[in-house]
Amino acid sequence: MNSLEQLVQQAQEDFCAAPDPAALENAKARYLGKTGQITEQMKGLGKLAPDERKSQGALINAAKERIEAALNAARDALSNAQMQSRLDAEAIDITLPGRGRGTGGIHPVMRTWERVEQIFGSIGFDVADGPEIETDWTNFTALNSPENHPARSMQDTFYIEDRDTLGKQLLLRTHTSPMQVRYARMNQPPIKVIAPGRTYRVDSDATHSPMFHQVEGLWIDENISFADLKGVYLNFVRAFFETDDLQVRFRPSYFPFTEPSAEIDIAFGSGPLKGRWLEVSGAGQVHPTVVANMGLDPARHIGFAFGSGLERLTMLRYGINDLRLFYEGDLRFLKQFN
Ligand code: FA5
Ligand code: MG
Repeated sequence: MNSLEQLVQQAQEDFCAAPDPAALENAKARYLGKTGQITEQMKGLGKLAPDERKSQGALINAAKERIEAALNAARDALSNAQMQSRLDAEAIDITLPGRGRGTGGIHPVMRTWERVEQIFGSIGFDVADGPEIETDWTNFTALNSPENHPARSMQDTFYIEDRDTLGKQLLLRTHTSPMQVRYARMNQPPIKVIAPGRTYRVDSDATHSPMFHQVEGLWIDENISFADLKGVYLNFVRAFFETDDLQVRFRPSYFPFTEPSAEIDIAFGSGPLKGRWLEVSGAGQVHPTVVANMGLDPARHIGFAFGSGLERLTMLRYGINDLRLFYEGDLRFLKQFN
């Protein structure tokens, strides 16, 4: 084997053995660099006779081309190997299930809220919205609970230190009943409205939360009676729970703003809360003093009001025994409603 053929073979072996691009470039320098072996052979051509120079030059060139081809092949091989190992490292396992996008759901109490609006809307009640920060006057005084009246202690609330622009005491409303007076002062009878919203009290146990939701109902006209209250509420309860397997009890009670007054309790004939009475609402005939505070004539206008707890309605509908579950943010609980 002549020396050029050996050189080509040696270069091919060196290039193949180069583990990375840097080693390959070093190997290349040994053959094709300024002092590389092929370059040196080219330099030696000058000492040869012209016709020998021509044939030897052609041989060296052919060897050089083969070495360059080997170099390019080795470069390609290295870069392919590099790409392959990157692909392996960054591989995406398309057989894994996707993480998906978490979709939100409607909170069970909000579901009740929407349902209540829909049912009362279907029998002609408007929906009104009122402030959660109320004046002492609208929350208590206008509702026939004078300052220092013991009935105020039934609803212990959160007072706000700042007063409003008229110097009135502000507080977080303890019930949605202030909406009775607010709405009636802005609308003419017949008044037929519900007002759902957040309410606040210093209360906390399995059936009481410091922040909870009520829906107020008010129907004022010239001869709306307690019998209408019973009819409307029974109709609502049947539509809301979608069952006749329940009992509704109007239990005599006291509210300063209604006379007569009742608490409305519900018990189911079956299900997880079977036989357990749960109070869902206060109700009654609007007191003449409150009708007067609405700016109406109590000799002419009369009607009923009720204030129901949305958490309590939700508890009964789904058989939940502790209302604190609504506010713990536990997705295992909340997901069951969506
Ligand atoms: C009232 O708040 C009266 N304003 C209801 C009313 C309106 C009577 C119109 C007459 C005319 P009471 O304090 O009973 O009443 O509350 C009404 C309902 O709100 C209760 O039956 C209960 O369902 C719910 N509730 C009261 N306190 C809480 C609480 N801390 N957490 C959850 N629900 C509550
Ligand atoms: Mg009550």
